[in-house]
Amino acid sequence: MPSSAGKVLPVAILLLAACGRKQAEPAGTNAYADARVCAACHQAIANSYKQTGMARAFRKATPADAPDTPLVHKVSGRRYQFQKRDGKLFLRRDEESGGNPIEKEVHYVLGSGNHARSYLHKTPQNRLIEMPVNWYPPNGGFLAMSPGYDRPDHMDMRRAIGYECMFCHNSYPQIPNASSADDPVFPGVIPEGIDCQRCHGPGRAHVEAPGRGNILNPRALSKQRQQEVCMQCHLEPTSYPLPNAIVRYERAIFSYNPKDPLSDHIVHFDHAPGAGHDGKFEIASSAYRLRQSKCWLSSNEQLTCTTCHNPHAVTREFDAACRQCHQTLAKHPAKQQDCAGCHMPKRRTEDVIHVVVTDHRIQRPPANARTLLAPRTEHHEQMGSTSYQGEVVLYYPRKLDNDLYPALAQVAHQSNLTAGIPRLEAALQTGRPGHPAYYLQMAQAYHASGEPAKAIPYYRKALEKDPNYLPAIRSLGASQARLGQLPEAEVTLERATKQHPNDSLVWLELARVYRQQRKEAAMAARKAVELEPELVDAQVTLGMALLHAGDRAGAETAFRAAIREKPDESDAHTNLGNILNAKGETKEAERHFLDAIRYNAKSAAARYNIAVFLANQRRFPEAIPHAKESIALEPNNLNSRDLLGNLYAAARLWREAAVLYRETLKLNPSFPRAQLGLGTALGALNDFNGARLYLRQAAESPDPAVRAEAADLLRSLP
Ligand code: HEC
Ligand code: HEC
Ligand code: HEC
Ligand code: HEC
Ligand code: HEC
Ligand code: HEC
Ligand code: HEC
Repeated sequence: MPSSAGKVLPVAILLLAACGRKQAEPAGTNAYADARVCAACHQAIANSYKQTGMARAFRKATPADAPDTPLVHKVSGRRYQFQKRDGKLFLRRDEESGGNPIEKEVHYVLGSGNHARSYLHKTPQNRLIEMPVNWYPPNGGFLAMSPGYDRPDHMDMRRAIGYECMFCHNSYPQIPNASSADDPVFPGVIPEGIDCQRCHGPGRAHVEAPGRGNILNPRALSKQRQQEVCMQCHLEPTSYPLPNAIVRYERAIFSYNPKDPLSDHIVHFDHAPGAGHDGKFEIASSAYRLRQSKCWLSSNEQLTCTTCHNPHAVTREFDAACRQCHQTLAKHPAKQQDCAGCHMPKRRTEDVIHVVVTDHRIQRPPANARTLLAPRTEHHEQMGSTSYQGEVVLYYPRKLDNDLYPALAQVAHQSNLTAGIPRLEAALQTGRPGHPAYYLQMAQAYHASGEPAKAIPYYRKALEKDPNYLPAIRSLGASQARLGQLPEAEVTLERATKQHPNDSLVWLELARVYRQQRKEAAMAARKAVELEPELVDAQVTLGMALLHAGDRAGAETAFRAAIREKPDESDAHTNLGNILNAKGETKEAERHFLDAIRYNAKSAAARYNIAVFLANQRRFPEAIPHAKESIALEPNNLNSRDLLGNLYAAARLWREAAVLYRETLKLNPSFPRAQLGLGTALGALNDFNGARLYLRQAAESPDPAVRAEAADLLRSLP
């Protein structure tokens, strides 16, 4: 036992530290105390709380946090292995072939490891990136792909951790005042673990004047409000796109205080009943499932998390909690211990397939208890394309004063766009909210439904509310560009780079707009790359801009950087292939051309470029199928048609050439190279009249090279 002096001393020191910080900040911005202070006076609680998963939910990584065994992911052809050096942990990725290695430091571990651990990298720009592999404890522990990554085109080392992950898995980090959920950065100190104040609210006043009355004791709240203290993190109707919740736009993301109603801060949504999602079972489901139990529904909502759980300790005994309401069990099977073992069986979750957790829907033992643990495969739902389509229903609170948030929920993840757009229009008309984010959502809904012209007035409305509102400026510029209003887009984005000079995405959009107008784009693209070297699109845009400006060496560096981050970036492979080929490095060039196709078999450009490459090497039979595929993908591309025609001619396949050129002239009767090609092919097939007809047309074309060649051929005909 530490002496009482030992107990008090650290408090004094920490309080001093806290006071020092107080002066450095504007008054009133931080009502929170240093989380370590509480332990000095509430030692027993602090010691038992330390054992819980919540206290260990987030921390700095050490080499001991990861196994040495590699993970080979066949589906994406990647191999992952942790490296340990100088007390630090790194994750290395290679392609299965051994190429294209990349290594990033693992700075944090998210998850106590009771069920799983995620590994996070912090970029120099203060983004947190989720690593593609997770650790799971069963069978002595193993690595597997992170949820959502078991696919060929996964996010590898590029998926940013949003504020919402941090909200549920940690205490509040320091973030910039104007942070937007679109752009999560963590520049300040990141806390390590969920601390007392997430359930008790800001504690500085209490620490300065210890006693009752100046810190929240959740017991003083109504049962419903006690439940909300836990539901801030434990209520997640689904982790798939829906959305399951929207943080009110007027609220800073980390401003929830458990003394206030949860719905002042965040509104929760669910799938519509009967739409095939009623029995879903996911990882963060305890509150959602408990609230489906007869015990909860029939006890006037008196059942809360703390009926069964001690929030400050790992709870192991639950029977007494059941007995509070079920003293006598009438026609019950003989065994009456471990009630939860039969009535709250563990189940495998749908969203994190390597995890098994307790089903909080208390019920008669389900008949299929065995199958609850059966292995699952991952199913992927990407927002907008393959995700749930249907009404999004309000889940918590049960009622709201107006339809703004329910209407927003229809469009936020594009689950119900058609019905949601007029509904949101109407809600904005009546509600006239002041925050720009509402109008941004309306604009994005129109954009997503293929009506960018209708989006623009709403971006402008958002900017009327706040001329500096970054997401609206960026999207306005992008929408203008998509509508072909390039000069307008340029004005918008140039202004944006002055308002937000450190935003990589604004520079990227601007570089794209310059490129579309064939203007110098390398400087803007380079700015984006400097601000965020991991931004693959910026690297590719920079490479294209440099190629355009004739700087092949610079372009090569940019394309290589893009590929290192994203080995499946098909366009970068093609461009790199062309650069290497021009330098005479044909072997390596060919590898990149092949990679471009491997990663995007549906890219007409990739097919065209490899066909040209093979043609230059006089490998005509190999080139022909690629040129054919390129035409199949883009039937109107005259260059590909001309290329295939030339390949047929080189291989003396005159009949095929004639068929192709006839088809091409149907698409575009005045295409000089097709006239020349058809004339040539017919000549070779001894149809001299046919040949003359097309060669004469070609001899009058506006293309001087075609004219000259056609004239030569006409002279050589018998
Ligand atoms: C300097 C000592 C001290 C520190 C530091 C301290 N407390 Fe307390 N706390 C007390 C005392 C004394 C009480 C009153 C206990 C009593 O009356 O039994 C109390 C009571 C509480 C209560 C019950 C309040 C009520 O109205 O029922 C909570 C909750 C609490 N503390 C949480 C915290 C948290 C969280 C922290 C850290 C942010 C913290 N305390 C830091 C001394 C301290
Ligand atoms: C709505 C709050 C919420 C959000 C958002 C959320 N989680 Fe969780 N997560 C939870 C809860 C609650 C659990 C514990 C579930 C249980 O044990 O039944 C959990 C469990 C986990 C675990 C397992 C921890 C363990 O060992 O028990 C990992 C790892 C994890 N989440 C990662 C993430 C990541 C990464 C994100 C963001 C992409 C995320 N979570 C988003 C609430 C959330
Ligand atoms: C997960 C939420 C949660 C966390 C984290 C948490 N508490 Fe609590 N705490 C509660 C709840 C809920 C109650 C009320 C319990 C009850 O109803 O009996 C409570 C009660 C208390 C009380 C009053 C006890 C009493 O008998 O009146 C103190 C003191 C306290 N907590 C201190 C702490 C300290 C110190 C920490 C951090 C080491 C902490 N709590 C972390 C949820 C939490
Ligand atoms: C700040 C978010 C947050 C709040 C508030 C919160 N939890 Fe948790 N809780 C989590 C996360 C995240 C996990 C999983 C942590 C892990 O193991 O990595 C978790 C885990 C748990 C567990 C599993 C056992 C363990 O060792 O941690 C229980 C039980 C639990 N929470 C109960 C509660 C109760 C009861 C409340 C309300 C009094 C509450 N939680 C409030 C986020 C939260
Ligand atoms: C706060 C009171 C309360 C607690 C605690 C409680 N229950 Fe219940 N439970 C109820 C009520 C009320 C009903 C509904 C009784 C009815 O409809 O006849 C119920 C119903 C049930 C049913 C029947 C469910 C069905 O779908 O038919 C089972 C089984 C059950 N409880 C088991 C448990 C177990 C096991 C525990 C502990 C893990 C528990 N209960 C804790 C109040 C509670
Ligand atoms: C009727 C009792 C009861 C209630 C009420 C209850 N739980 Fe649980 N909870 C359990 C049992 C039993 C377990 C399994 C414990 C174990 O296996 O060690 C559990 C486990 C958990 C776990 C860890 C999941 C796992 O399987 O490892 C979390 C997280 C959790 N509860 C959160 C909550 C939250 C949040 C609430 C309130 C919404 C809540 N619980 C309400 C009985 C309850
Ligand atoms: C060995 C598994 C098992 C255990 C352990 C168990 N039950 Fe049950 N329980 C059942 C089965 C099976 C039923 C009957 C379901 C039916 O009739 O459809 C049942 C029914 C119930 C019911 C609804 C019928 C009734 O009698 O009201 C309640 C409530 C209930 N159990 C509570 C509990 C409680 C509380 C405990 C712990 C003290 C417990 N059970 C322990 C298997 C179990």
